[in-house]
Amino acid sequence: MATIRDVAKLAGVSVATVSRVINKNGYVNQGTEQKVRKAIQQLHFEPNAVARGLASKRTGTIAVILPDITNPFFAEMARAVEDEARKHGFTVILCNSDDQGAKEKTYIEVLKKKYIDGIIFASQTLGKEDVAQMKKHNIPLVVLDRAPSEEDCSIVRSQNSMGAQVAVRHLLETGCRKIAHIYGPQEITTAKERLLGYEHAVKGFDWFTPTLMVPGNFRLDGGMKAVELLLEQHPDVDGIFAGNDLMAVGALKALHRLGIRVPDQIAVCGFDGIYLTEIMEPELTTVAQPIYEMGSLAAEILIQKINGTLQENQVCELEVSLIARNSTRRERMK
Ligand code: RIB
Repeated sequence: MATIRDVAKLAGVSVATVSRVINKNGYVNQGTEQKVRKAIQQLHFEPNAVARGLASKRTGTIAVILPDITNPFFAEMARAVEDEARKHGFTVILCNSDDQGAKEKTYIEVLKKKYIDGIIFASQTLGKEDVAQMKKHNIPLVVLDRAPSEEDCSIVRSQNSMGAQVAVRHLLETGCRKIAHIYGPQEITTAKERLLGYEHAVKGFDWFTPTLMVPGNFRLDGGMKAVELLLEQHPDVDGIFAGNDLMAVGALKALHRLGIRVPDQIAVCGFDGIYLTEIMEPELTTVAQPIYEMGSLAAEILIQKINGTLQENQVCELEVSLIARNSTRRERMK
């Protein structure tokens, strides 16, 4: 009995393309459609009636639930999801949860009713019960970025703890002798992992004390407030690692207002690699996440799950990279 994969192989196309021809959902050019129909005829392929039944509920649409669409990090990631989805003939619905669990649950209910083919969660409030619910309703999902690794689903994230250690090592190499950390909301796994990475990197130094770790909120204003609090307690700090770029930009602004020269008096390093880091003065050093790659990989895994060409969960942790710029370029201390 020929399968959809046999048809795809004979026609020299993807399973997703064969599925679109069978279910008439999504674009297929005429030449390709003829090849697929010829292969179906040659193989006497009979689409599985139940699978077709389920598949016919397919809408050729996936959803991405983001926590903060105003943060360029998520905008770039959503763009990558959309580019990859479009390659496979899927459209994308963007949902902004504002980090609110209730708003996210509403989205899930609405998306279920719309027979969405799959969901990418880039927010933080997904719980084990939510994952179980999605499984029960046979809705494939991928958790992107803010994902504790023990979730029973596919995950795409970057090396947060390792990235924090890279940031601290870089600040030390530029001659910093007392480095603080502005951390994001600790209910968010990425913020927690970066804080742990910072602690791991500095705990052996005699200058380290817990009050060098100050709370932020992953936003620009949180970076500004954190600098004011930090310098009240530690006016001799000469390096700041911020848990994301928006807080690092806020820190630059606060330091400028205080008349403190960056990097000569205090060097600043962020985390994410968003475009804002390039337009700041001085340009901001950051630990760049592979944002676009994370988004496109999450979409690729989700679509393989939807098409049934991927069964097991994938946990992908991608490398981050240091981009050194003028906010840390100091004359090495003598
Ligand atoms: O800037 C937003 C932060 O939240 C990023 O660091 C990203 O990793 C997300 O967790």
